[in-house]
Amino acid sequence: MRIAMIGSGYVGLVSGVCFADFGHDVICVDKAHDKIAALKEGRIPIYEPGLDELVQRNVRSGNLSFSTDIATSVGEADVVFIAVGTPSRRGDGHADLSYVYSAAREIASAVKGFTVVVTKSTVPVGTGDEVDRIIAEANPLADVAVVSNPEFLREGAAIDDFKRPDRIVVGLEDERAREVMAEVYRPLYLNKAPLVFTDRRTSELIKYAANAFLAMKITFINEVADLCESVGANVQEVANGIGLDKRIGAKFLHAGPGYGGSCFPKDTLALVKTAQDAGSPIRLIETTVEVNTQRKRAMARKVVAACGGSVRGKTIGMLGLTFKPMTDDMRDAPSIAIAQALVDLGAKIQAYDPEGMGHAKKILPPGIDFAEGPYEAAEGADAICIVTEWNQFRALDFKRLRDVMSAPVIVDLRNIYQGDELAKHGFSYSSIGRPK
Ligand code: UGA
Repeated sequence: MRIAMIGSGYVGLVSGVCFADFGHDVICVDKAHDKIAALKEGRIPIYEPGLDELVQRNVRSGNLSFSTDIATSVGEADVVFIAVGTPSRRGDGHADLSYVYSAAREIASAVKGFTVVVTKSTVPVGTGDEVDRIIAEANPLADVAVVSNPEFLREGAAIDDFKRPDRIVVGLEDERAREVMAEVYRPLYLNKAPLVFTDRRTSELIKYAANAFLAMKITFINEVADLCESVGANVQEVANGIGLDKRIGAKFLHAGPGYGGSCFPKDTLALVKTAQDAGSPIRLIETTVEVNTQRKRAMARKVVAACGGSVRGKTIGMLGLTFKPMTDDMRDAPSIAIAQALVDLGAKIQAYDPEGMGHAKKILPPGIDFAEGPYEAAEGADAICIVTEWNQFRALDFKRLRDVMSAPVIVDLRNIYQGDELAKHGFSYSSIGRPK
């Protein structure tokens, strides 16, 4: 299959490279000349484990190339994926579809022969219909089938998620696209990944419903964690105890500082808006959004409590800034709200992250010091706060920490340590939803 991937951001690049690795002939297209120039030189604009190697291998084998020229790439393709960004629209929280629609217009004038046009970007219900309409209007002679094929990969585990998915969802209205999409994903369903065919609107909703459900599951366990703190129970054991029930499942039950990232916050908000507009509000998700937003800032209270009631004039070492480990992504990371709250309360912050410092320097509130490593962030600190569970923080040298810190206080927002272990090393320790 000849595949053109329009948009070489996170989803487009990972999907394009993986399709190339399956043996398809893939061209990844982007308007950003600097991005394409970098990719052509083998430089990868995002941090994703294993991606560089996969890009290099497929460029060498001739299955993968990069271009800024949409028209030629689309003209030669059997399947065109739209994988451009759908950020939250400023002001109303709806997904901004302008990039999707402008890609559709460009595709319309460039297609040659029967072409399957696939929306891989996360798009609200009805977007496929609109893409169909835009293409028909821009080029009445275009012979296209517009398909929805949402992506379920996680940052930091994207290649594995792509190659070993729980399922592949394909929503279509034109039966001719079924065979083409089956061929695109043939290498995967040989691996027994179920290929779920449905109609286009249902497929679009599956993506939002999946992310909203996961966000709700995390928010549920976060609120149970707060309850555990009030009644003296242990959230990790509650999660284990309920997660063993197969109907509930053990995954996404890690209590923490609230979910962040480029997907859950944006997608939950977009689903809330879609549902309200359709006169069918999903109140569980409205509440999830509200509880999660408040939670991030509220995490600063734990630091205040650990510091004896005030952080004014105190130094806090923040370990981990990205929204989760194995990514450099700072979008909607809990660290942003926590840092802002601590700064507002008069604390001085020394922050460190293994991969996210570049983005963090642009996003975190002004006045924050950035450290070279975890021990430098802890230098002279009255407390350290672990915000992201990077492996690098899982086996800290406690003696070294105690020597550099002003006071031996650890606030662990990811529950990566045990209180009794830290007590032995002379630390005062607080975590999420667990007795000390
Ligand atoms: C998420 C979904 O997991 C993917 O399936 C989906 O494809 C993707 O969004 C998307 O729509 O593109 P991602 O945002 O990369 O993936 O990250 P997750 O691993 O899901 O984590 C999201 C947030 O939830 C992080 O802040 C993480 O720390 C938090 N989280 C996750 C918890 O607090 N507890 C958990 O148990 C799990």
